[in-house]
Amino acid sequence: MTRLIIIGGQWGDEGKGKIVDWYTSKFKPSFVVRFNGGANAGHTVVNGKGKFKLHLIPSGILHKNIKCVLANGMVVDPVELLGEISTLESSGVFTKNILISDRAHIVMPWHFLAEEIDERSRGKNLIGTTKKGIGPAYSDKVGRTGLRFADAASKSLFRAKLEEIYKIKKVHFSAGSKLPEVEIIIENYWKILSKLNKYVTKTEEVLKTASEKNQKIILEGAQGSLLDVEWGIYNKVTSSPTTRLGAYQGSGILPKEGDRAFGVYKAYITKVGEGYLPTRMKEDVEKIIRERGNEFGVTTGRPRKCGWFDAPLAKYTAEINGFDEVVITKPDVLDTLERIKICVGYSLNGKRINSVTSSEVEFNKCQPIYEEVPGWREETSSIKKYKDLPTNFKKYLSVIEKLIGVKISAVSLGPATKQTVTIN
Ligand code: IMP
Repeated sequence: MTRLIIIGGQWGDEGKGKIVDWYTSKFKPSFVVRFNGGANAGHTVVNGKGKFKLHLIPSGILHKNIKCVLANGMVVDPVELLGEISTLESSGVFTKNILISDRAHIVMPWHFLAEEIDERSRGKNLIGTTKKGIGPAYSDKVGRTGLRFADAASKSLFRAKLEEIYKIKKVHFSAGSKLPEVEIIIENYWKILSKLNKYVTKTEEVLKTASEKNQKIILEGAQGSLLDVEWGIYNKVTSSPTTRLGAYQGSGILPKEGDRAFGVYKAYITKVGEGYLPTRMKEDVEKIIRERGNEFGVTTGRPRKCGWFDAPLAKYTAEINGFDEVVITKPDVLDTLERIKICVGYSLNGKRINSVTSSEVEFNKCQPIYEEVPGWREETSSIKKYKDLPTNFKKYLSVIEKLIGVKISAVSLGPATKQTVTIN
């Protein structure tokens, strides 16, 4: 195996950052590649060097000899990226190994303005975005009015491209009333982009050469499969492909026999932003779980809605990704519960269904059907071996493993990378 794709199996925040860091230590890749999204992601890694919150830079940055690629599928806010690089540098992290694709799109000031206007005009049906300019930056990409790092190779090129796009934007933003002056944007952004230029390259060619040499690569997904623009619960989704299929498109790497995709799932489920969470817990239980699991957004600080493990959704995302293995995170958060619910199907218009509907209107009507299992009521976060885990804990894992339909190969029992137990 030379390529590992790590994907969130739920609505994001499954703990992928930590799992990428864990696999990076074990698998020792030459590259860790982010292939989608932008600063909407928030990956937390706690290891021997401290606690790090990463939004744009791949989680592999904490390992010195690994190249970290921001690939073509990303939309990158240069202001945020420069800030992230300097925060890491001030903690003594080596950052010279960052590579930015010259095809990655640049998040520009008008993207934040457009997002604000779009969300406001959605009224009650707002998405609850992270306000990082993601949707408008991807809209510009497919609308062919995006700026890419290749367009900032020199100031004259950047000026020419920006002035061309600015003309279109001026028409969009009611005669330019809220849009900053073009000269201000050029000067401010050029100051930042010229500092990032040393990282910019044709990352798809670098990755192609690495693949030819059989060098190991980890593809690090951001957000979760249920937020995928194609396969998620539309329209409460992000604007990029978040699944295994998106990993190839977003990095320029071609699929190869032997690639393995690992799904990361929480032992329960959370959702941040608007949209229906069928298994949402009752307020008193949700409060316990939110506090024990620190369920607040890394990027936005918003409290996350917490729900019971939802097997139809988990099976659906395992299938669309073709997961080879699954890692379960945060089961230790459930340590204190007497009984644990698992959603095994839905009731929709009086009929039982076990699948996921494509229509959000129907999805919103799905009522969970639960099975209950006894809890283990024992502190598990310091357990190091699978055989030492409580019997009811292991039973819970084997029930959800059967429901997902994919082998669980590890469990994460706390935020630190070393709090991870392998299951053989
Ligand atoms: P956007 O990606 O900022 O456009 O937000 C679209 C939806 O995806 C919102 O519901 C966000 O809360 C959600 N979202 C985006 N990124 C993440 C993430 O990294 N974790 C969890 N939810 C996210």
